[in-house]
Amino acid sequence: MRKRVCLLILTSAWFCAFPGRTLAKAAGNSPAARAAAIVARMTHAEKLSYVHGYFPPYQKPLPTWMANAAGHVPGIPRLGVPALRESDASLGVANNVEQRPGDTATALPSTLALAASFDPGLARAAGAMIGSEARAKTFNVLLGGGVNLTRDAWGGRNFEYFGEDPLLSGVMAGAAVTGVQSNHIISTVKHFALNAQETGRDVLDARLDRDAMHESDLLAFRIAIEEGRPGSVMCAYNKINGTYACENSWLLEDVLRTEWRYPGFVMSDWGAVHSTNQAVLAGLEQESGQELDAQIYFGEPLAAAVVGDRAIRQRLDEMVTRIVTAVISSGLYDDPVPLITQPIDVPAHADVAQRVAEAGMVLLKNERGVLPLAGAARHVVLIGGRADIGVLSGGGSSQVRSVGGIPVELPLTEGAAMSFARVSWHASSPLRALQAAAPSVRFTFLDGRDPAAAAAAARKADVAIVFATQWRTEAQDVPSLLLPDKQDALIEAVAAANPNSVVVLETGGAVLMPWLHRVAGVVEAWYPGQRGGEALARLLLGQIDFSGHLPLTFPSSVDQLPRAMPADPKQPIVYREGANVGYRWFAEQGMTPLFAFGYGLSYGRVAYRQVHFTGGARPRVGMTVRNLGEQATIALPQLYLIGPERAPPRLVGWMRTKLSPHEERRITVMADRRLIPRRHGGRWTVMPGSYRLIVGNDADDAFASLNVRLANSNNAKR
Ligand code: BGC
Repeated sequence: MRKRVCLLILTSAWFCAFPGRTLAKAAGNSPAARAAAIVARMTHAEKLSYVHGYFPPYQKPLPTWMANAAGHVPGIPRLGVPALRESDASLGVANNVEQRPGDTATALPSTLALAASFDPGLARAAGAMIGSEARAKTFNVLLGGGVNLTRDAWGGRNFEYFGEDPLLSGVMAGAAVTGVQSNHIISTVKHFALNAQETGRDVLDARLDRDAMHESDLLAFRIAIEEGRPGSVMCAYNKINGTYACENSWLLEDVLRTEWRYPGFVMSDWGAVHSTNQAVLAGLEQESGQELDAQIYFGEPLAAAVVGDRAIRQRLDEMVTRIVTAVISSGLYDDPVPLITQPIDVPAHADVAQRVAEAGMVLLKNERGVLPLAGAARHVVLIGGRADIGVLSGGGSSQVRSVGGIPVELPLTEGAAMSFARVSWHASSPLRALQAAAPSVRFTFLDGRDPAAAAAAARKADVAIVFATQWRTEAQDVPSLLLPDKQDALIEAVAAANPNSVVVLETGGAVLMPWLHRVAGVVEAWYPGQRGGEALARLLLGQIDFSGHLPLTFPSSVDQLPRAMPADPKQPIVYREGANVGYRWFAEQGMTPLFAFGYGLSYGRVAYRQVHFTGGARPRVGMTVRNLGEQATIALPQLYLIGPERAPPRLVGWMRTKLSPHEERRITVMADRRLIPRRHGGRWTVMPGSYRLIVGNDADDAFASLNVRLANSNNAKR
């Protein structure tokens, strides 16, 4: 008798400590079933409280239970339902304009650099790193996974996205999301969908044929969701074919829920909600950053709407259930994030940042062996870009306050990004890194403000390296694809003074290069993150090989682009290129870009032979790859499909293969089946007709191709 009483007491004590968790586990079912059991125990007020969240920077004073970050949704402790502590996290745990003084995090290179690695394993490692820092900093929802396609070369946020190709973007974003969520926290993918320009992003109406959208931007999202299973999708600011994304039932209900069977929840972008009933019924589950909307639509107005409207009441249950389902399926419910900060393995995380920088930088030009520097160069002058102190970073909500500090930070005096962006450099000095890595070479630095002085210094050096920067930020597009602040003239002056001139670009996307024919070398370093200087030093010195490939096309002039400048958001923006984004547009128009999608040089040389294509239901190419050099290098054959008939090429597969000196290996690149059918009249079909498989070094450089027949695999997925 005594024992039984004791057991009862113990059981109820445990039940008291974790009542919700006990109940949910007792249900023992799928995350959705467990979520439903929890929601059934919620009061009406509790349900209403979980579908909208605060924007912490507007809380004065900030409550102690809230972190000063992007968002906060209070939890329901009696049921074990956690508060959602949201941080931006595309490139690391963000802390823009130093909202949280002194809170530093590991700053990765821009997402474009990660995309340029074509390495999903690296993307996963990068996501896992960010997720673990987020957890250690008490965040449990990360607003990463930006998967918008680059439709416009001047897009302010291009650096935050994975480039112009749906397969590359989707696979890489999905891998990053998987990495984040491996920490038992939630990741988003965003901004769903067609947030392709920053100018007027909160009002613009993006017009695009639905089938074309499915073959381009939506395909990138679908692949990212299938690969990464993010707990949440963030709907975008803009309208799509006349209706705001966050109240667009075609987008949220017909596509995301019904066709893709997405089980997670939709959260709004910050300030992207415009209605209560329409948004609720269209499929929005959570209003984020509520103070940024014209009113808190999911607050009082939703409470009122629920009273008289059965459909809204049912939706409220569904909305909360979906959010709690994501909390459970991510692992967050059963493994809650401690509210006390945890230690971070800072050096190991810095290594991840360096690996991404090393894999993502792209060697665009290398004549007369000007690189690697290790040869005859005794004196190298570095010019401009503040290369003596660090590397540039992109601006906006993704800005990380990097470990090592922000040595230069320039506030903005105008523009839409003024309140939340500063032009910032990470403390990773290329000058110091080069000098440390090659002590026998003399490296000097000149700020580049005086082109004549720069030319004079270049004349005296064996090699001159100009560090050219172009800052991009969320909320503003760049006004021109030319480098700002007369840097083109600086490069011309240096190149005229020394034939061994190299340009290192720190840009957030494609730029024009009127000086290209005058310089011997060009490296696209993107925004290379808090270890960018060290990565650059190893690559420039040839200690490791370049292996990055462009995730977007570099045009030779703005006339080649579908739109030469940001479209006027007061008019609907008709995306006339349709599904033919980036390199597909160039192919369709018969234009040759400056640098093609997929392009990238290496020091090493790789030979391909015995190339064997297979068509049918699972198209692929097998080949023997051989490293012809004395150093390790990376092969990255890309598989494109043309057809039916003359439809422009699309990337259907690639393989990144590391080869040791003289290594030979047989590899197979499979075509991803999601890229083979075309979308017509709302259906995916493998169109009859002739197809051509092409394997190449980039979208414009084939080394083998074959006409094949494709069989209908009767499967739009993989
Ligand atoms: C951005 C989102 C971001 C959110 C929260 C918005 O302005 O578009 O990408 O996650 O702010 O900071």
